[in-house]
Amino acid sequence: MSVSSVALEVAVGADASLAEQTRQRLCSQGRLDTAAEFVLQFAPELVQLAHPSGKENPLLVDFAAGAVDHRRKFGGGKGQDIAKAVGLNKGVTPRILDATAGLGRDAFALASLGCQVDMLERSPVVFALLADGLARAQAAANGEVARIANQMTVAYGSVLDGLTPAHLIDVVYLDPMFPERQKSALVKKDMRFFHSVVGDDPDADGLLDAALAMDCARVVVKRPSKAPLLANRQPSHQIVGKSIRYDIYAKRKLA
Ligand SMILES: C[S@@+](CC[C@H](N)C(=O)[O-])C[C@H]1O[C@@H](n2cnc3c(N)ncnc32)[C@H](O)[C@@H]1O
Repeated sequence: MSVSSVALEVAVGADASLAEQTRQRLCSQGRLDTAAEFVLQFAPELVQLAHPSGKENPLLVDFAAGAVDHRRKFGGGKGQDIAKAVGLNKGVTPRILDATAGLGRDAFALASLGCQVDMLERSPVVFALLADGLARAQAAANGEVARIANQMTVAYGSVLDGLTPAHLIDVVYLDPMFPERQKSALVKKDMRFFHSVVGDDPDADGLLDAALAMDCARVVVKRPSKAPLLANRQPSHQIVGKSIRYDIYAKRKLA
C-alpha cells in the first residue's frame, strides 16, 4: 500500500517547534506536498489531520473523549485481554515500552490500569498527533485523565534504529499495522484514514526480533485473530479473542 503525502498548515499561536520538526521529518521522507490530499493542521489548541473533501472527520488524539474515554470508564479493568497479556492479572504492574504507539489508545488503556508506558512512534504525522494529544491530556482539567497521561511519555523513532528507553522495561508491546483485508464499510472510517497516511509495516517481523533482543521479561504482539504469526515465531502462549489475538513471548518471570 502506498503512503499518502501530506500538506502542512501552521496557524499563529500553534506549537511552532512541533510543526517545524514535523516539516523536516516529512521533507526527509519526500512526503511533504502543498497539493496533498491530507492536511496536517497545527492550530493553537490542537493538531489534526484533515481531509479537504470534508467527507471524513479530522483525525486527532483526544484521550478525554470518545472511544478512549469510554474504554477508560467501562473497558473491563484488569480482566480484559490486553491486561492479561502484559501480566497485570498476576499482581504486578509492569513498566511497558509501546514500540508501535499509533494513536496511543492501547498505551492509554494500559496506563489507566496503573502502568508507566513509554511510547515510540516513527510516522511523523502520527507522532505529531500523538504528542499533541498527550500534551493536552497531561494538562487536562479532568484530573483522572491528567494523572493517567502523566504516566506516559512519547518519543519519535523506532527500536529498529536502536532507540531504547534509558530505564528498565518489563514488557515490550507491539501492534504493527496489518494490511486491510476488509472492504470499506467494515473498517472504521478513522482507521481507513489512518491507514492511508501510515501504510503497512512490512518490516514488522524484524521489529519482533529487535524486541526479543531487548532486556525485558516479555514481548506482547497484538494481531488480528486469524493473522499469521510475526516472523513465524511460536509464542509461549496466546490469548485469542473474537477479532484480536495477543501472542506472548515470555523471556523471564515478571518481577
Ligand atoms: C496499528 S498502529 C498502533 C495502534 C496503537 N496500538 C493504538 O492503540 O493506537 C501501528 C503504529 O505503529 C507504528 N510503527 C510501526 N512500526 C514501527 C516501528 N518499527 N517503530 C515505531 N513505530 C512503528 C506505525 O507508524 C503506526 O502508527
